[in-house]
Amino acid sequence: MTKPAVRVAVTGAAGQICYSLLFRIANGDVYGKDQPVILQLLDLPQAQNAVKGVVMELEDCAFPLLAGVVITDDPKVAFKDVDAAFLVGARPRSKGMERADLLLANAEIFKVQGAALNAVAKRDVKVLVVGNPANTNAYITAKSAPDLPAGNITAMLRLDHNRALSQFAAKIGANSADIEKLAVWGNHSPTMFADYRFATVKGEPLPKLVNDEEWYRGTLIPTVGKRGAAIIEARGLSSAASAANAAVDHMRDWIHGTNGGWVSMGIASDGSYGIPEGIVFGFPAVCSNGSYEVVKGLEISEYAQSMLNITLKELLDERDGVSAIVG
Ligand code: NAI
Repeated sequence: MTKPAVRVAVTGAAGQICYSLLFRIANGDVYGKDQPVILQLLDLPQAQNAVKGVVMELEDCAFPLLAGVVITDDPKVAFKDVDAAFLVGARPRSKGMERADLLLANAEIFKVQGAALNAVAKRDVKVLVVGNPANTNAYITAKSAPDLPAGNITAMLRLDHNRALSQFAAKIGANSADIEKLAVWGNHSPTMFADYRFATVKGEPLPKLVNDEEWYRGTLIPTVGKRGAAIIEARGLSSAASAANAAVDHMRDWIHGTNGGWVSMGIASDGSYGIPEGIVFGFPAVCSNGSYEVVKGLEISEYAQSMLNITLKELLDERDGVSAIVG
């Protein structure tokens, strides 16, 4: 018997990331190959025609699992009864725009969307914020959705995690799938901290295999942190297919579990590791039974603490920058 369809909202549906993401979701890459999905697509009024074009292409793929598509510019229609929401749409930085203005413009968007999720989404909706600044946008969404569990509103650090996996794998000639217990802490920004201290490859400690702390601190960390800028420089556009892939990885693992494996997720802090409660911070997490747990009790070295302090300071500044909007 066919299962009832799940409802998945995706915002920014006419944008670059969604041009990959929607097809992956419709193909069953998030919920699985036996789970029909209904896509509920949100974009701005001026982008509705472009969304219709993307939907024509979705139709032309004849995906067996795609049980319906809703197109709207109203968040309350897009989020109605959804099981999952990918919040991809965001205000990009325009020429001459200050970072503070960008923060505020996005805060307004995510305040409205948080309130709409609060009003009409399923009570156990899983939300992934991709649109930048992703951590702070997730913080605002959670604050604007007081009736939903704050833990159900997450931000995407998975692209940074995947970027780090791939760089380490290339350095030591391993398969990225064999690298376990990698963690990316903090903000999805160049201040994020890719932490390899606990990572292993087939049981061998990764730091021992790399055997080059100078490369790790001086090359790996900045390469991962500035990868987004390097892609813009090379492509003339920001990362899109890899961002969509990371969003699929994040949501699929949250839904189906990681078998004890670590992933990096932007999670509202419960105070662990001295991160103030509510701040959406990249933590290592293990997913099981549709839920996740932050990996607790890891030792934080002096160097790691200094890196956590830098990325936390940036997030606290962002939080202060939007305090007029979320209080
Ligand atoms: P894009 O500019 O191609 O598309 C954005 C779409 O969002 C547009 O169709 C736009 O009309 C729509 N949009 C804007 N405001 C909206 C609103 N209030 N409601 C609904 N839709 C709205 O951008 P792209 O490349 O798809 O990237 C989307 C976001 O993802 C950007 O903020 C980007 O910085 C971010 N990003 C995040 C990554 C992460 O790792 N967290 C990685 C890569 C990108």
